[in-house]
Amino acid sequence: MSGGGYRNGDIVSERTFVMVKPDGVERRLVGECIRRFEARGLKLVGLKIQVIAQETAQKHYEEHKEKPFFGELVNFITAGPTVQMVWEGTDAVAQVRKMNGATHCLKAEVGTIRGDFGLSLQSNIIHASDAPETAVREIALYFAPGELLDYTLPDEKWLK
Ligand code: PPS
Repeated sequence: MSGGGYRNGDIVSERTFVMVKPDGVERRLVGECIRRFEARGLKLVGLKIQVIAQETAQKHYEEHKEKPFFGELVNFITAGPTVQMVWEGTDAVAQVRKMNGATHCLKAEVGTIRGDFGLSLQSNIIHASDAPETAVREIALYFAPGELLDYTLPDEKWLK
């Protein structure tokens, strides 16, 4: 699968891009995020840790380049190590967005990653693609096709 997803009846299996931000890494929440996505039934198909370049961050957030917080956001996301992941599964984009919670941690429901671990708007621990088309673009920004794995897990029949 390249990232766009495929339809089986009403079931959409797709890939989404997820990044644990510098605050999430420094607060040792990488394992907690991975545990939650695995427990939900999603499959990890790509993983790396890096300090992202300013240029990559600018491309990632280019839709916000006219916003007053753009410079601050780029500085924040490049300030320390971040973890990039690609997760695959039924409705993966929407599932992960729901699990992350609202952008501002104050508005995020308790039980979501941001609602359980964050307090602010900028330091909101985790990023995830907001739509399948965004996922295709963001995955390509951080991963070469050969860095993503195609494999089957034995429980997949229960997760469709
Ligand atoms: S907007 O304006 O509604 O389109 O923005 P939003 O979708 O809520 O947020 C987009 C990303 O920008 C981050 N953000 C901010 N960073 C710093 N300062 C301020 N004021 C700010 N407002 C929004 C926000 O955390 C989102 O990051 P991602 O990585 O997409 O979750």
